[in-house]
Amino acid sequence: MQKLLIKGKNEISGSIKISGSKNATLPILAASILAKNITLNNAPFVKDIFTMIELLRFIGIDIKIESKKKNIKLINKKKSINTLAPYKLVKTMRAGVLVLGPLLTKYKKAKVSLPGGCAIGTRPVNLHLFALKKLGADIKIKDGYIIADAKDGLIGTKIKFPSISVGATENALLAAFGARGKTILNNCAIEPEVLDLVSFLKKLGCKIHIEGRKIIVEGIKKIKNKIKHKVIFDRIEAGTYLVAGALIGKKVVINNIYSKIFKTEIDLLKNMGVRIHTQKNSITVLKSKKLKKINISTKPYPGFPTDLQAQFMVLMTQANGLSKIKENIFENRFMHVPELKRMGAKIEIKNKTAYVFGPTKLTGAEVMATDLRASVSLVLAGLIADNRTIVNRIYHLDRGYEFLESKLKKCKAKIKRI
Ligand code: UD1
Repeated sequence: MQKLLIKGKNEISGSIKISGSKNATLPILAASILAKNITLNNAPFVKDIFTMIELLRFIGIDIKIESKKKNIKLINKKKSINTLAPYKLVKTMRAGVLVLGPLLTKYKKAKVSLPGGCAIGTRPVNLHLFALKKLGADIKIKDGYIIADAKDGLIGTKIKFPSISVGATENALLAAFGARGKTILNNCAIEPEVLDLVSFLKKLGCKIHIEGRKIIVEGIKKIKNKIKHKVIFDRIEAGTYLVAGALIGKKVVINNIYSKIFKTEIDLLKNMGVRIHTQKNSITVLKSKKLKKINISTKPYPGFPTDLQAQFMVLMTQANGLSKIKENIFENRFMHVPELKRMGAKIEIKNKTAYVFGPTKLTGAEVMATDLRASVSLVLAGLIADNRTIVNRIYHLDRGYEFLESKLKKCKAKIKRI
């Protein structure tokens, strides 16, 4: 099994080009079921994207990847396709459940494996099913599968989500796209990745209007045959490298971004005393000597993202005083804490809150990655630790970080895959 070997305490400097967003690409790939001929540009070539591609090929979409141009071409012209998403593909990547809405709305039936839990929590799909039922789907759960039918097609309606979910908002949008009439979705997730899906669906000819957390979708009448779309940048990847720069950057420039999108994170870094200069499409960050303690609470966008909680925790280990992070989104997202403690971090968890005492000197150790963002926090800790850190189970990292080692190596970090 592959591992990452990091020799810590080496200042990093240089520029990092941020890849396209994995979490924006996944629902847009699922939306290709609704379309005929799509060219998707700037998708990151990471494991989760290839799993979604495998699922779409299984369903019957023809897919061509142009690696150099960073294009994925998707053609769906077959009369009949497979409306099944099997367990073996959905279990490795929960976003596979996003094919449910498009299959159901276009082909009037779908059989999609229940994704099951994962390391960070139980992660149910009840809100996805709630929305689809409101749109008129008949849904049963049998043998671990969601079996959905909408013989007469889905019908637009009013839906108010009892709580905010990114995936459920996306599935509902994808289903409402092909429903008859108008759907009004209330209490939606408005993450930039959801908005990228909306702009993609609009290019297909769908009329969508957003007011705060309300999204109004007019069921499609005439679909555009051929469209191109460039996926937005990965704000979580960008946030991760900002933390790296704040920890040990002589001067790190993050490129290919749109800084307005992650104002919350930038403001927090500024409040901690991080030296950071923001421009419209790039950010420069430098190591800061006296970091101030801070309190963070994870929330749906525009709040602080749960996907950056682990990375910011590493930064807190270097801040003066007691910092706190409250995790409100997932019930089990502190799996990186025992590993960071093995490296010398002083962290205590009480209920949903992690109390981080700093500054502490971190020492290299052999550590184990548990999920995507937890793994990258261990890499960040390795960059500032004394001696050598070995991160095991890096297949988690490969699910979502494109060219992690080469991007860091280009900035002179001592990191290699063994
Ligand atoms: C997406 C992101 C993930 C991010 C998360 C929160 C993708 C592929 N993944 O995941 O990286 O951490 O948003 O920003 O985009 N919930 C329910 N019932 C449901 C659905 C969700 O109770 O039917 C709960 C979840 O357990 C969780 C909360 O709602 O506690 C938010 O989850 P959700 O926004 O749905 O996350 P995902 O879409 O799975």
